[in-house]
Amino acid sequence: MSKNILIKEPQTAKEFEAYFLLRYNVLRKPWNQAPGSERDDQEDSSIHAMAVDENQEVLGVARLQFNSPEEAQLRYMAVKENTQGLGIGRKLVEHMEEKARQQNRKVLVLQARENAVDFYKKCGYTIVEKSFLMWGEIQHYLMSKQL
Ligand SMILES: CC(C)(COP(=O)(O)OP(=O)(O)OC[C@H]1O[C@@H](n2cnc3c(N)ncnc32)[C@H](O)[C@@H]1OP(=O)(O)O)[C@@H](O)C(=O)NCCC(=O)NCCS
Repeated sequence: MSKNILIKEPQTAKEFEAYFLLRYNVLRKPWNQAPGSERDDQEDSSIHAMAVDENQEVLGVARLQFNSPEEAQLRYMAVKENTQGLGIGRKLVEHMEEKARQQNRKVLVLQARENAVDFYKKCGYTIVEKSFLMWGEIQHYLMSKQL
């Protein structure tokens, strides 16, 4: 990879603003969803991670939530369009797997958009079932990995 990428937890209001903006720009804006739709009521109880370059530009984001004593869920994975395919997504997934292990979770689940299924397979996830259709067009697949 050409750039030095660091995975960190957003801390300041400014960092959270950049974190949510990338989530919005990659996962909501292309489908004309309203600003604010990128957040839900589990932000405070989740772990957040972002990939930044040497200029502190946010290039990737991910969130880890805890579903049960055994299970964690990866959500809102997004890498900036012009830096996709450089290994940033994999770094974020590995970081979150480690966070889930530290919290004694045994399995990590996620709802993969159809376009991302092969990415998650490369990260060791397998399809559990075809799940829901978002906004009438984006097919999702429930995937999981034992930690
Ligand atoms: C899907 C996404 C998170 C992957 O992140 P990324 O940084 O581009 O992926 P990486 O560069 O870490 O890829 C890791 C491996 O998966 C492969 N890969 C990445 N995206 C892929 C895709 N869409 N289809 C097939 N393979 C893919 C890479 O080629 C790489 O393979 P390698 O290890 O053999 O070299 C990112 O492309 C993205 O944000 N996409 C748009 C939003 C989205 O769909 N998010 C997921 C919602 S569930």
